[in-house]
Amino acid sequence: MTILILGANGFIGNSLVEKLCKESKYDLYAMDLSSNNIEEYKDHSNFTFVEGDININSEWIEYHIKKCDIIIPLVAIATPNIYVKDPLRVFNLDFESNLKIVKWVAKYNKRIIFPSTSEVYGMCSDENFNEYSSNLVLGPVHKSRWIYSASKQLLDRVIIAYGERGDLSYNLFRPFNWIGPRLDTLEQAQLGNGRVMTIFIYNLLNQKDIILVDGGKQSRSFTDIDDGINALVGIIDKNDINGKIFNIGNPKNSISIKKLATILIERYNILSQNRYSGKIKIKTQNEFYGNGYEDISVRVPDINEAKKHLDWEPKVKLSDSIDKTIEYYLKQRF
Ligand code: UGA
Repeated sequence: MTILILGANGFIGNSLVEKLCKESKYDLYAMDLSSNNIEEYKDHSNFTFVEGDININSEWIEYHIKKCDIIIPLVAIATPNIYVKDPLRVFNLDFESNLKIVKWVAKYNKRIIFPSTSEVYGMCSDENFNEYSSNLVLGPVHKSRWIYSASKQLLDRVIIAYGERGDLSYNLFRPFNWIGPRLDTLEQAQLGNGRVMTIFIYNLLNQKDIILVDGGKQSRSFTDIDDGINALVGIIDKNDINGKIFNIGNPKNSISIKKLATILIERYNILSQNRYSGKIKIKTQNEFYGNGYEDISVRVPDINEAKKHLDWEPKVKLSDSIDKTIEYYLKQRF
């Protein structure tokens, strides 16, 4: 099976490369702007990596889409701070650049496994978000936080339309707050361009205050990267699931951001043999992100589709996931 992975050095990409390189049944072709997270796999006989920008190396990409069985385009900006500060960059990369790839996949009638997002459900009020019945609820257009969700949603719809016309086969997967080592860099977290897990860990490592947006009562269902990658490999390996959409998340790990901060402080104090001396402070959404932000208060996946078709369910406990993430960043601190 030949697989093209675009964005192979990113959080999902590098963990997927690590997993697939261990098995000789896959021939992998991959591109990213850099390769620091996948150095050790570069000499694997079944892994071909090219350093490059998906917006520049069009010929290479089109050629490899034609050559491969499965295309997994993972290149995207996925941090809320950038949705608000630079929405056009998000649109250009997450939508426009990926649309070109989807069109080539359709041209050569290939299979795409596309990373949609939990964010497509927006402020949906369902207790558990379902792939086929939940409404996608976004705020007004001047709230640019939703540009990521809207970009992904429209690409989901384009892929489905091509699929219905028989131009490609597809699966969409929706990660729900995957966490683990290499989620964001500490430099990104320092600039506020990381996800909450890495921002909080950066604060702990540097004795900076932790900011709870709106008091941190909003919650997320955190999912271990290893569970996420196992689901993704399940999708790759199945050839009778064309057209299916999968939420990949851990409903048992739904906790408030305030609770996350408390657990992280507790575990940091134990694992680092240091004491966090910063404070927990509260800011409004507006103070923290600016006027273009709007939050999601509860986000829990319905994972019955993945259980049924992939014979998958998440196994890693939140405490184990948090510990291994802290331990990784303790080694990375700068
Ligand atoms: C994320 C991102 O949009 C994507 O990475 C991804 O597609 C998606 O979720 C997912 O993986 O499911 P979100 O969960 O809102 O969205 O992003 P975070 O930056 O991790 O924020 C989580 C919560 O923590 C938000 O309510 C935010 O306001 C809060 N937060 C963040 C704080 O209270 N303090 C901080 O310092 C940072």
